[in-house]
Amino acid sequence: MSGHSDDPQDTRSYKLRSNAWFKRQDRDGFSRRSWMKNQGRADHLFDGRPVIGICNTWSEFTPCNGHFRQIAEYVKRGVYEMGGFPLEFPVMSLSEILLRPTAMLYRNLASMDVEESIRGQPMDGVVLLTGCDKTTPALVMGAASCDIPTIVVSGGPMLNGRYKGEMLGSGTHSWIFTERLKTGQMTMADLSQAEAAMSRSSGHCMTMGTASTMASMVEALGIALPTNAAIPGVDARRYALAHMAGRRIVEMVKDDLRLSKVLTKKAFENAILVNGAIGGSTNAVVHLLAMAGRMGIDLTLDDWDRLGRDMPCLVNLMPSGKYLMEEFYYAGGIPAVISEIRHRLHLDALTVTGQTIGENNAGAKSHDPDVIYPFAAPFKPQGGIAVLRGNLAPNGAVLKPSAASPSLMKHRGRAVVFESIEDYDARIDDPALDIDESCVMVLKGCGPRGYPGFPEVGNFALPAKILKKGIRDMVRISDARMSGTAYGTTVLHTAPEAAAGGPIALVRNGDMIELDVAARRLHLDVADDELSRRRAGWSAPVRPSERGYYRLYVDHVLQADRGADLDFLVGNSGAAVKRESH
Ligand code: FES
Repeated sequence: MSGHSDDPQDTRSYKLRSNAWFKRQDRDGFSRRSWMKNQGRADHLFDGRPVIGICNTWSEFTPCNGHFRQIAEYVKRGVYEMGGFPLEFPVMSLSEILLRPTAMLYRNLASMDVEESIRGQPMDGVVLLTGCDKTTPALVMGAASCDIPTIVVSGGPMLNGRYKGEMLGSGTHSWIFTERLKTGQMTMADLSQAEAAMSRSSGHCMTMGTASTMASMVEALGIALPTNAAIPGVDARRYALAHMAGRRIVEMVKDDLRLSKVLTKKAFENAILVNGAIGGSTNAVVHLLAMAGRMGIDLTLDDWDRLGRDMPCLVNLMPSGKYLMEEFYYAGGIPAVISEIRHRLHLDALTVTGQTIGENNAGAKSHDPDVIYPFAAPFKPQGGIAVLRGNLAPNGAVLKPSAASPSLMKHRGRAVVFESIEDYDARIDDPALDIDESCVMVLKGCGPRGYPGFPEVGNFALPAKILKKGIRDMVRISDARMSGTAYGTTVLHTAPEAAAGGPIALVRNGDMIELDVAARRLHLDVADDELSRRRAGWSAPVRPSERGYYRLYVDHVLQADRGADLDFLVGNSGAAVKRESH
């Protein structure tokens, strides 16, 4: 087809973006409507009404998102009710539990899929269906780079696990059971039963791990409806929320309420404060930095430390506490947390409801003070993420005080170094390993570029011989991330990473390392001239792969302190495509 010069974004001739595809009275319009009608769609759906994309991360390889086809149907109900035209589309789904070498490697790839799928197709607004850890940031990042009206619907957490009278938290009990297996307290037969007991319904991890944290973050950012984070995945109210999101996105299109009007610096600051109050995952640091980068918002590690420094943890959930997301929902969820810390928030931040976050959550309160504590008498005094700096991490490293041991927050110890995760696996339980509980374990080669993909190995387990003494925590330092379901005195995201020539690459067995969380200090006690000598002898690791996405990723990934996005994806291109489809 030739001879036309219509810009699909030309709002002078078309009211909505999708009109440029479907409302035309020419051969292109005929073709697009005709092919779309092969699914039984009636004429009136092409009358210029808002087209709503439903971006679905359903996959049988992503069990946390396994119920998303049902959720999409409820979104469609709402869209139809409000006079919209829903069209569901798939994007790459990221399974935290199955993807090799780590789901984080593909977060940016999935975000590209989302971005180009939104931009290239006729939709005026989009509903993002997110669940498993990386699906939330990937979809928000992709949508942010397009900036059309957007609303997130999370899949909701699994119901509580329970085994032999013990409450089981996703992930958290994987670590606990692994330690019990190492010390002979559990058998493989016990584990098999516990597997089924832990994951007994649809939904994502029900601890305050990364999935629950990111679901909370989108609610705190104002890009999801109130109560989005905590309604269990199988609760009928999860489906009602999806229905309401379908109704709301049509109104957002009519009001031109784009993502950029909601995802502001104030919204990110609110989210960081809420992350502190819920004792959220350290992964939120990387993901929010990347999301802000897509919006062109200058968010830094210093914002995280400044805002989180005196924010107490109010929420008594695993891995920092004892309850799970189900109790959190019954206790009032994120609205109750927002209400408790409202004096610290930007209450005038706009949300997808069209109202402010203050208006959305006015009157919310905790219904169970043992699950959601009051601000004045919190569950733990420190909930925020501590950002450490020093000659070992000139661009920063992070630690989650609420998941760490108070006795280790100030510590000086002898380094025991593992050059890679394979080196760690090979030697950690070697009886000859020269280590005791006062040592500082250092793991290299697990940053964004080095692994590659920035895996969640930062809470690498203690040697069995130390666990058998009843010791459960030691200071650990790495350039890796840590699962949000994990715990321990773990210094993470050390930047620059070893593979990028960061000082962590220069640490050797026997060096003394000082950690002082209160002073935000991480120091390698080695003289500068000795470090210079070591640097002169250091060479960058060989690139792990020469082709495909690995190569693109390794060549372009930013360091942890910049969200580990790809350098060329930072920023926002809008939704316009200048050329017609041919
Ligand atoms: Fe999917 Fe934890 S494995 S949320």
